[in-house]
Amino acid sequence: MLGRRRPAPPDVDALIDDELGAGRPTGWFEPLYAALGGRQELLPWYREGPHPYLEGGLPVPAPATALVVGCGLGDDAAWLAGLGYRVTAFDLAPTAVRAAGARHPDAEIDWRVADLLELPDDLRPADLVVEVHTVDHLPGVVRDAAMQAIATLVAPGGSALIVTRLATSREVADRTPGPPWPQAPSELAAYRAGGLLRVSLEHPEPDEHGCLEVRLVLGRAPVPGEDRGDASSA
Ligand SMILES: C[S@@+](CC[C@H](N)C(=O)[O-])C[C@H]1O[C@@H](n2cnc3c(N)ncnc32)[C@H](O)[C@@H]1O
Repeated sequence: MLGRRRPAPPDVDALIDDELGAGRPTGWFEPLYAALGGRQELLPWYREGPHPYLEGGLPVPAPATALVVGCGLGDDAAWLAGLGYRVTAFDLAPTAVRAAGARHPDAEIDWRVADLLELPDDLRPADLVVEVHTVDHLPGVVRDAAMQAIATLVAPGGSALIVTRLATSREVADRTPGPPWPQAPSELAAYRAGGLLRVSLEHPEPDEHGCLEVRLVLGRAPVPGEDRGDASSA
């Protein structure tokens, strides 16, 4: 008996070209997840378990509220929930959010379909905001808006842990293909414009393109007279 033919994996580059060409900077994520038909391991960013930069330590201890931006298949969110954070995780791709919930059925997480570029009013700021390779998968035209939106999600006294691909210069960023499209160092100023201050920036040596995967920790000053417990209980 012949085995059932599996559909060919999607041509990611063609999908991206089509969507970006049509002026839809985030239009390729949902079709990509949907085209995989459950074969999530074919995702270019597929990974099992949390990103190693999270395991290296978190800037806000549990218990606290945590918000995972562009959660994809949800492994970072599930790991945070297991540590005792009260986690909300969102992604604009409904197929990804469904897959995340199915992949982590026992995790107590508020899974949400939401667009970072059009944040719903009921998405409350959190003590810890985690962003892993979402901004560097967005084209330059929407990046400032994405970073400033991330900044709005950090509660007073809270922190953001960002994992992104960074170029050593604007020139390197401009000539390096993606995704991930490396961010130029100057781009990170958008977080400062959003009220976040840099706490640390760690990275290994640059790769052959002059790019590096950075672990960036940012913080928002507390409101005088309030401690973080106020935000945690929100
Ligand atoms: C490269 S993947 C990384 C997923 C996950 N953070 C991880 O590390 O496995 C980027 C994710 O961001 C999501 N995303 C892209 N733009 C978004 C937006 N504007 N709002 C919310 N999620 C977005 C995509 O659907 C995708 O799941």
